[in-house]
Amino acid sequence: MTQVTKQQVLDAFHFRAATRSYDPNKKIAKEDFAYILELARLSPSSVGSEPWKFLVVQNKALREQLKPVSWGMVTQIDDADYLVVILAKKNARYDSDYFRQALEKRGLTEEQMVKVLARYKSFQTDDMKIADNPRALFDWTSKQTYIALANMMTGAALIGIDSCPIEGFNYDEVNRILAQANAFDPEEWGVSVMVTFGYRAKEIKSKYRKPTEEVVDWIE
Ligand SMILES: Cc1cc2nc3c(=O)[nH]c(=O)nc-3n(C[C@H](O)[C@H](O)[C@H](O)COP(=O)(O)O)c2cc1C
Repeated sequence: MTQVTKQQVLDAFHFRAATRSYDPNKKIAKEDFAYILELARLSPSSVGSEPWKFLVVQNKALREQLKPVSWGMVTQIDDADYLVVILAKKNARYDSDYFRQALEKRGLTEEQMVKVLARYKSFQTDDMKIADNPRALFDWTSKQTYIALANMMTGAALIGIDSCPIEGFNYDEVNRILAQANAFDPEEWGVSVMVTFGYRAKEIKSKYRKPTEEVVDWIE
């Protein structure tokens, strides 16, 4: 593996900034966006569940429909080169077909499957206490999608591409609009978070962060 330097990574973290306006004349190369999607796909997830889908919304009419219910991206939705709506799996219970199929794809034998599913049952039921609460199960899969979100944004920044994570929208309305457009089955999937990509239209002033001593506690 080619090593990047710590300074290169830190530079990318300083460069990345929530981009509220994109340059409409500067387009992301197709292969660069494919790289960003690949970073999403390769992201880790709890028990390897991969409980996500990445909807790339390039359709202008659909973006226009989303605009009035997405206050957090009104200034970007027209000029963002790519808009990705990240979906999280609903009802990802240990005893769902979804889990069984994921394990089958990993090539587990029936015996291994029984063991693994018993472990997941106790994990979801006793440890996390989410198995019998659809909202809690959805929040759990949603959490996994934020890892992919971060990886996409960081990887984009490393090659000089800008992004903005988006939670500023009406979830019911966005789910309704996208499901009506047949973008997904609302029984199976729900919108977790969105992210836009492009090149910043203007300079973004440097970020504020709490000092290290305020956010890190050492227990020794
Ligand atoms: C999960 C998440 C959701 C966000 N939603 C929005 C949004 O809807 N609209 C927006 O303009 N910025 C949004 N932001 C950007 C934050 O406001 C921004 O990351 C924060 O102020 C720190 O600034 P920086 O990203 O430039 O360092 C969101 C950030 C995160 C992590």
